[in-house]
Amino acid sequence: MNTDTSTKNNPSRKDVFRMFDRIAARYDFLHHFLSFYRDKVWRRRLAQQLPARDDLDVLDLATGTADQLLALFKTRKVKSGIGVDPAEKMLAIGRRKIEKKNLADKIKLLPGSAENLPFGNNTFDVVAISFGIRNVTNVTRALSEMHRVLRQGGRALILEFSLPRNRLIRKIYLLYFRKILPRLGGFIAGDRHAYHYLNETVEVFPYGEEFCALMRAAGFTGTRARPMTFGVATLYRGDKQ
Ligand SMILES: C[S@@+](CC[C@H](N)C(=O)[O-])C[C@H]1O[C@@H](n2cnc3c(N)ncnc32)[C@H](O)[C@@H]1O
Repeated sequence: MNTDTSTKNNPSRKDVFRMFDRIAARYDFLHHFLSFYRDKVWRRRLAQQLPARDDLDVLDLATGTADQLLALFKTRKVKSGIGVDPAEKMLAIGRRKIEKKNLADKIKLLPGSAENLPFGNNTFDVVAISFGIRNVTNVTRALSEMHRVLRQGGRALILEFSLPRNRLIRKIYLLYFRKILPRLGGFIAGDRHAYHYLNETVEVFPYGEEFCALMRAAGFTGTRARPMTFGVATLYRGDKQ
């Protein structure tokens, strides 16, 4: 299976973070609005999959404006959080939210790529990535990095868009995804390309069992995929033994 996403018929991910920097100011509103506010529920579901212990050290990749990290902190099971993302403007918005919630002593946001993590082996109890794994150029490398920095007994939690399996729902969804969403995104964020990029990447990205197989190849055990909202998004989980 080819996991290098920079292939033919697959939009280039090179410097895609620049696109996120361009839409940073509108990102949160659009993510909530275009997902009919389901993203908040999906992030909470991810947080519910934290390991059953307290004082967790958490790394959130492609952290963007830090919504996933903040949802993880709400569980009160997290001791410290680090968010990593190459888009500085997204991080700047995230930092403001963290300060507002008086969590600046517990959460740090750093510029960086999921494919090359500046952390030692066995550093975190949990590594999360929400709507980010689809954006990296080399998915296999990012998954291996996630596995490397996890402690034994640690857990990877991955949230990503996917496609409904039901043919009728899929047809309706693709109509929305291909025709309506890029227009709305273009109108509100002033960047139609960003929302074409969304549907083009989601439509070619592996999901369900195919993605679980990639996680297993990176060393994860107990992998599982849980489709949510008719399969529009899928929550993946895998452990490091
Ligand atoms: C759709 S946003 C998701 C942000 C956040 N996780 C959320 O749930 O709202 C995707 C993020 O992936 C980041 N990104 C792009 N390439 C990346 C890479 N190689 N490594 C880590 N993050 C990357 C972008 O800068 C952007 O902030």
